[in-house]
Amino acid sequence: MRRPLMAGNWKMHKNIPEAIAMVKELKPLISDVKDVDILICPVFTAIYPLSNEAKGSNIKIGAQNVYWEPKGAFTGEIAVSMLSDAGCSFVIIGHSERRQYFCETDETVNKRTKATLNANLIPIVCVGETLQERESDNTFKVIEKQVRDGIKNFSKEEAEKIVIAYEPVWAIGTGKTATPQQAQEVHGFIRKIYSEMYGSDIANKVRILYGGSVKPDNVSELMKQKDIDGGLVGGASLDAASFAKLVKFNG
Ligand code: 13P
Repeated sequence: MRRPLMAGNWKMHKNIPEAIAMVKELKPLISDVKDVDILICPVFTAIYPLSNEAKGSNIKIGAQNVYWEPKGAFTGEIAVSMLSDAGCSFVIIGHSERRQYFCETDETVNKRTKATLNANLIPIVCVGETLQERESDNTFKVIEKQVRDGIKNFSKEEAEKIVIAYEPVWAIGTGKTATPQQAQEVHGFIRKIYSEMYGSDIANKVRILYGGSVKPDNVSELMKQKDIDGGLVGGASLDAASFAKLVKFNG
């Protein structure tokens, strides 16, 4: 019922020629995939050239961050309309690396999400607990706050379009994946909170991605969980053959 989304978050990797080479290699490997949305989120400078390279294919291009003002004296920032102009249809918002290193808060996540929806792009809102928060039994409390505060005050129509990504911080880039059961437990919880916020009809439609050391050898078990609707993938999305395997998670 929910269409799977496999998204590559390239973080601060690949210059323009490297990005284009990878998409050229990827296109024929996944050209037969019809039932999965495929997304690549490169660095800002590669967005426009990659969206040209991806034209006519089943690959969509997204950004890794956005500012909420439409224009003005905001040195170093970028507006949603500029991303759209360059060929983006998705924006990753509130990634844990942005929360950790760049002062991202639930309040700024909310503003970026609002601006993204207003411009008709799809936000991918990231939530996730740290190892310390998990070990002190605060996972659900942390996730609930991030969902309730980061994704508040939207209409049902807006809430339905949002994609949520659960990325336990302790699983990112560490090779330590959450077990499918651990991930499902949190995904089910997120859907329950979303149902309290926007109703079960919306909660049942919203896509919840898992991120954190997703690899070709663990993707299918994760994707079998009933509340896991896709992946937000770092390291394993940087190689065409590996990303193609993730996109083809069901064989
Ligand atoms: P890894 O897949 O490299 O663990 O990164 C996950 C992530 O942060 C995706 O946004």
